[in-house]
Amino acid sequence: MNRNFIFILLIALSVTNTIPLEKRSTNFTDVCYYGVDPREIISASVSPDPVISGQNVTFNVSRTLSNAITNKGLIYIDFCDDDSSSIIYENNSTAPQTAAGSSFKANLTFEAPANLPSSYIIQVLVMSPSDLIGCIIASVS
Ligand SMILES: *[C@@H]1O[C@H](CO)[C@@H](O)[C@H](O)[C@H]1NC(C)=O
Ligand SMILES: *[C@@H]1O[C@H](CO)[C@@H](O)[C@H](O)[C@H]1NC(C)=O
Ligand SMILES: *[C@@H]1O[C@H](CO)[C@@H](O)[C@H](O)[C@H]1NC(C)=O
Ligand SMILES: *[C@@H]1O[C@H](CO)[C@@H](O)[C@H](O)[C@H]1NC(C)=O
Ligand SMILES: *[C@@H]1O[C@H](CO)[C@@H](O)[C@H](O)[C@H]1NC(C)=O
Ligand SMILES: *[C@@H]1O[C@H](CO)[C@@H](O)[C@H](O)[C@H]1NC(C)=O
Repeated sequence: MNRNFIFILLIALSVTNTIPLEKRSTNFTDVCYYGVDPREIISASVSPDPVISGQNVTFNVSRTLSNAITNKGLIYIDFCDDDSSSIIYENNSTAPQTAAGSSFKANLTFEAPANLPSSYIIQVLVMSPSDLIGCIIASVS
């Protein structure tokens, strides 16, 4: 059984390697939960895509949320380990104060962690003031 599994995995890897034009991308598609409660979805994209270790990266974050972002709101961008979900690197920035039902936009540029593993997770979280009101997750592998 294990041998078959390894065999299939090797085929999958070699197929991936023979398609050099296929570029991996950072798709922010996974909803996140606080306990069992889903949080509001926010939109996020990165440039360059995929993120380059140790280089500047710009996150474009936006959405209309049904909760207000107070003047104590923060946007967290967490790079997490794919296996353990432990945080490799975290950036927090002030979130634009926004009324409930209004759209917010934020452009965040900072130096990406220098030691990004080949597989990782990026979580974009909007906290206000200390409640997680919105977020989105991308798995990159
Ligand atoms: C991201 O989404 C695009 C368009 O839907 C898709 O072609 C691509 O395979 C996805 N990439 C990953 C890493 O899931
Ligand atoms: C990132 O951008 C800042 C501000 O423009 C610049 O000082 C820094 O050198 C850049 N870092 C890299 C790794 O390019
Ligand atoms: C960021 O969002 C703006 C619209 O708010 C869009 O024009 C721009 O292309 C986006 N940039 C990236 C890098 O996704
Ligand atoms: C935000 O980031 C700064 C600099 O990395 C850190 O010193 C600070 O403790 C962080 N604040 C919060 C509220 O996470
Ligand atoms: C964010 O940056 C992109 C370029 O990376 C730019 O096109 C866009 O207008 C910016 N959006 C905001 C809201 O500043
Ligand atoms: C966090 O991101 C902001 C951009 O929103 C940047 O100005 C700041 O330098 C970054 N903090 C760190 C510790 O890289």
